[in-house]
Amino acid sequence: MDLYGRDFIVTQEWALDELQTLLDLAARMKRDRFSPRWTDLLAHRTFLMFFYNPSVRTRLSFEAAATELGGHAQFMTPSAGRFKTQKQAGETIEDAARVMARYCCGIGIRILEDKVPYYGAGNEMLREYAHWADVPIINMADDRFHPCQGMADLLGWAEWYGEGPGRPNYANLRGKNFLLTWGSGALARSWCSVQEALLVASRFGLNVTIARPEGYDLDGEVYDWTRQNCAANGTSFRIVDDPESGYDGAHVVYSRNWVTAAAYQDGLFQKQAEIEKALAIPGWTTTAARMARTDHAIFTHPMPVDRGTEVSDEVASGPRSAIYDVAENRLHVQKAVMALTMGNL
Ligand code: CP
Repeated sequence: MDLYGRDFIVTQEWALDELQTLLDLAARMKRDRFSPRWTDLLAHRTFLMFFYNPSVRTRLSFEAAATELGGHAQFMTPSAGRFKTQKQAGETIEDAARVMARYCCGIGIRILEDKVPYYGAGNEMLREYAHWADVPIINMADDRFHPCQGMADLLGWAEWYGEGPGRPNYANLRGKNFLLTWGSGALARSWCSVQEALLVASRFGLNVTIARPEGYDLDGEVYDWTRQNCAANGTSFRIVDDPESGYDGAHVVYSRNWVTAAAYQDGLFQKQAEIEKALAIPGWTTTAARMARTDHAIFTHPMPVDRGTEVSDEVASGPRSAIYDVAENRLHVQKAVMALTMGNL
């Protein structure tokens, strides 16, 4: 299988065997982290990281990944350039992408909802970069998808239901029950991580339950893909509107705050209005009492965690919490993505 030169914008656009190849390489890299098999794969090459929004895990893990592959990750924000936007004159995406591609072996981009005028505009921008750049475009989280996070989530769940770190078992995930529940809080979070989690859970054979208050449905196309993935696997997909029932029999619990579909007005992301709406809906917190309704579920979250609102400390730091394993897996998954799409494998 040749994945050299491929963009990674959403997991749904990669075939299942391509995703499995990526996951298998990530696990091998995790088991044997500094093996000389990997340490020269990006030798003398530069990966460009273009961040419109801040990050801890994504920036650190991509930088570490490039270093561990023998290359270098270069950091840039839009303030470093003069880029054309709806409101200001400047350099086009065509020119920026074609020039960047002359310097580097791949371009990672993060652009979230507060930097774009409507839902989906961030993902459209990545696709325009992908159209013009002749090196891979890696989605480091846009307003719709976060594929590296989704792969790290899945690797972590399969490790917990497998033989531990670096020894995942994907067959054991099939038929397990995945609960994605909205979480209370004042962070007005993106849809990207939770949508990617729906896609990977349904793709890899888990039954999917979404629990959310009325008005908090996600992207209809993601729901359609999730339904199709579940149908292909003979698994179930359901949406419930209470904060309790989804826990019954769950094996993987994922809680996260997210905004409503009405988050844009007059081309602007209405963050404060979204926070006020969410603050009026307390009580959607993953607690030990709720976890007790599950089938000994693991707790997963892409981090940063909003402790006390999305999830209690007791659960986030508890013996069935996978959050640090998933965060670590960002490194291994991204090493595999870079090795396969840009490296001398
Ligand atoms: N999960 C994740 O993408 O974290 P950062 O926003 O810190 O990169």
